[in-house]
Amino acid sequence: MSQHRVSGITIQFRKLGWDRILSTIAVVLTLVVCFRLDLDSTVVQAQTTLKGDPDRGKAKAALCAACHGVAGVSVNPLWPSLAGQQEQYLVKQIKAFRDLEREEITMQPFVENLSDQDVADLAAFYAGLSPCP
Ligand code: HEC
Repeated sequence: MSQHRVSGITIQFRKLGWDRILSTIAVVLTLVVCFRLDLDSTVVQAQTTLKGDPDRGKAKAALCAACHGVAGVSVNPLWPSLAGQQEQYLVKQIKAFRDLEREEITMQPFVENLSDQDVADLAAFYAGLSPCP
């Protein structure tokens, strides 16, 4: 009887031990997951909130003007106008050309060395121009 009890207590202690171990693992895992998610969302935030400066963009757009027009309105039917285009779309497309996800042999050399900040600045500049000058 007492042996039973002892083993009963032993089993209970063991159970308690595993519970503790499991809950500690759960807490650690939760912390790891939350921390990682937090890091990831910080990175995503940093990418989406990189603020473009239209004045800096204007200076950087000197080369682009040859094809896309000084005011972002193209005169060549094969070159798109960029004036008034959505800023995020411009960021996405310029990066796509830069990173060779979108291919265009005439565009690529002009964007291949742009930093993310350059892209944000150019996008802010073109997005702020009127599509009908
Ligand atoms: C030599 C001419 C030329 C130059 C210079 C040039 N582009 Fe382009 N760009 C093009 C052409 C052509 C396209 C259309 C590509 C296609 O048909 O997919 C294009 C497309 C784009 C697009 C996509 C528009 C859309 O509606 O999807 C963006 C954004 C863009 N250019 C930005 C720039 C920027 C910023 C620069 C300067 C750093 C630049 N381009 C310089 C010729 C040029």
